[in-house]
Formats: sequence, structure tokens, C-alpha cells
Amino acid sequence: MPKYKIAWLPGDGIGKDVMQAARIVLDAIKLDAQYIPGDIGWEFWCKGGDALPQRTIKLLKETDCCLFGAITSKPKEEAEAELCQNLKGKGVVYTSPIVRLRQEFNLRTNLRPCKAYAGNPLNYRDDIDIVVFRENTEDLYSGVEFHPLPQEVMDVLCKHNPKMTKFKQTPLEDIAVSLRIITRKASQNIVRDAFEYAKKYGRKSVTVIEKPNVIRETSGLVIREARKIAKEYPEIKFNEANIDAICMWLLKNPQDYDVLATSNMFGDIISDLCAQLVGGLGFASSGNIGDDYAIFEPTHGSAPKYAGQFKVNPIATFLSAKLMLDWLGEKEKSERLEKAIAEVIKEGKVRTYDMGGKSTSLDVANAVAGKLK
Ligand code: NAI
Ligand code: MG
Repeated sequence: MPKYKIAWLPGDGIGKDVMQAARIVLDAIKLDAQYIPGDIGWEFWCKGGDALPQRTIKLLKETDCCLFGAITSKPKEEAEAELCQNLKGKGVVYTSPIVRLRQEFNLRTNLRPCKAYAGNPLNYRDDIDIVVFRENTEDLYSGVEFHPLPQEVMDVLCKHNPKMTKFKQTPLEDIAVSLRIITRKASQNIVRDAFEYAKKYGRKSVTVIEKPNVIRETSGLVIREARKIAKEYPEIKFNEANIDAICMWLLKNPQDYDVLATSNMFGDIISDLCAQLVGGLGFASSGNIGDDYAIFEPTHGSAPKYAGQFKVNPIATFLSAKLMLDWLGEKEKSERLEKAIAEVIKEGKVRTYDMGGKSTSLDVANAVAGKLK
């Protein structure tokens, strides 16, 4: 019996390309694992009306963790149009598999390291090493939204908050409301995960990003909880920053930042900003982490125009596999994998198009695998 059971979800588009490349690398590092393929993505929506079939959820439940490539998703009308004939008009609705996975497995923390590897021509600077902790389940992405605003909701809001009355004259069909829901528990969790990470990996500071001077209640709650938790980690410097200001500072002095922690939407924004500082989508790895399950994935999508061409950069997926090794506690293998990736980047001989080269995804995989033997 292999030590680990890993759900293997290539998805579609370039998800299949980068996962094939990742397998070469994982095989070279000889992780004692069984990789069990599962169905997810656009073809399963078209054929069966569900991009994340129940059998895949069942598979995930029987495994230790999951490596996931990428999937295509499309707006409502287009999704409906591509559904197979016998499912059309039956009220089948497309829902995002990624959001569902996060909810189903309570993958509350999104971890996104953004590190500049020496020799990467796409680095904004060579001394960037930021790790973003993004809350993954609530905030403006909770999906509690109204349009038009129901009269009852309007009445209740006016009753409880005088600031709402200024919208009272606006026709209800001309108002859309998305709720920013933030709980104390989730705020504590994301900040604590960031501090625990900082402690484990000898990081110097944690910066919590919000906007409490304007969004007083929700951002205020996060910051108040963060201040309490920070006191438990006196050896780690604690900073607070506003989301707008940090976007400027991250461009000006990214080398000054270490671990960042924030709520869902702000985290979505700054993690893309940080990813671009170190080479963009070809380098952006991530982990969706819960208490007892985790899914690792490159943050890029399925890039349909490159699907099946083995043209795209698989390094984001390799770095996601590295995060998976960390999470499994395979420290030696994780370090060896990162070193091999770093060497290939530094040598600069095998590069995909985004780095100015002509190598294929599989060339990069074989180069990294070569360093692991
Ligand atoms: P995308 O990330 O798929 O690609 C945008 C562009 O970035 C590509 O055309 C390509 O030029 C570049 N790119 C992406 N990955 C790269 C890599 N590994 N190496 C080099 N260049 C790379 O985003 P897009 O085009 O907005 O979305 C395409 C599809 O992917 C959509 O259906 C979207 O819904 C889906 N998507 C899925 C995600 C996921 O599976 N987690 C995340 C984001 C988008
Ligand atoms: Mg995003």
C-alpha cells in the first residue's frame, strides 16, 4: 500500500498539459503515492450537466489530498447552450466547481506564495519572497446577493441603519446589494494560519490588510481579532495596512513584505498583484487548505487557446506540488523539488514562451526531473 492516496484532477484545457508535466516531476521524486484520476471540468458539464460530478467528490473524500490542474467555465447562457440535448431546458444550472470544492471540504485558507527565483527574466525584482494568506469562504464572495433588492430587506435595513434611508427613493430594481459577511471565527483562523506559518518557516513579519477606517464593521472585526492574535507571537512583527495603500507599497517596495493575511476579495486582488511581481501565471501556485483536506492548484485557468499544445509554463503546477509535499510533511522532498525548479530557472536553458523560450511544458518537466535523479 502506498503511503498516500492523492486525487489527480487534470480538468481541461492546459490543465491536462501541466498535470502531465507535473506527473513526470512527481515520479522522479519518488513520492510513495497512488494518484487516482478524477473527472472535473467543462466536458462533464456538457455531457452530464455537472462539472464536478458526485463521484469526484466521493473520490476526494477517500484520498489524503488533491492536485488539480485547471478548468474552463463560461457565463450562464453559453453554458446552457453547450449542454447536451437531453439535458437542455431541464433547469440544470452551472455552478463553479472550485467554489463548491472549497465549501464542501471547508478549505478555508488560500495560500499563495510569490517568490522571485534567481534568473527568472520576468521578476519585477529578484529579492521578493511574499506569502499571501487569503480567507477562502466568506466576505463578498459568500454569494448572498440581491437584485432587485426585496422590499422587506430594504425595510429591515432602513430600520436598523439610518445610512440606508438615503437609498429609499431609488427603485428597488435599480439597487443591487452584495453582502460582505465576515465572521470572527474565520478572521481568527486566517490570521492564526498566517502567524503559524511565519513561526514555522522563520518569517519576520505578518501584515494584515483591510480597510477599517472606512469599512468599519467587517474590516474592523478582522483587525481587532488580528491584534489579539498578534500578541501571542511577540517574536513576529505585526503590521496593519489598508488595501489601497498596500497596492502602492507592494509595487514600490515589495522586498519589504513577508507574510500577508487578508479577507477573501482583498486577498484575491493582492495575490494576483504579487504573482505578477514574480513572473505571472506561469509561476503562481496555490493551496486551498482546510483542517483535514487540501487541494493544490496553479492559479491560472484553462487557457483554451493553448490547450493540448504543451506550450504553457508548468512551473506553477510544480510549485503547487511542492506546497502539497509541505502539507504532507515531506520536507526533504519538498526542498529537493524546489531546489531542482530553482536550478532549471537559473540555468535558463529550458524556458517556455512566457519566459522568452521555445521549450515545451514537458521539456521543462524533464529538465526538473533530471535534477531530481
Ligand atoms: P487563463 O489563466 O486560463 O489564461 C489567461 C492567459 O494567461 C492565457 O491565455 C495565457 O496567455 C496566459 N497563461 C495562463 N496560464 C499560463 C501558463 N501556465 N504559462 C504561460 N502562460 C499562461 O485565464 P482566462 O483566459 O481568463 O480563462 C480561461 C478559462 O479558464 C475560463 O474558462 C476561466 O473561467 C477559466 N479559469 C479557471 C481557473 C481555474 O481552473 N482555477 C482560474 C481562472 C480561470
Ligand atoms: Mg483570482
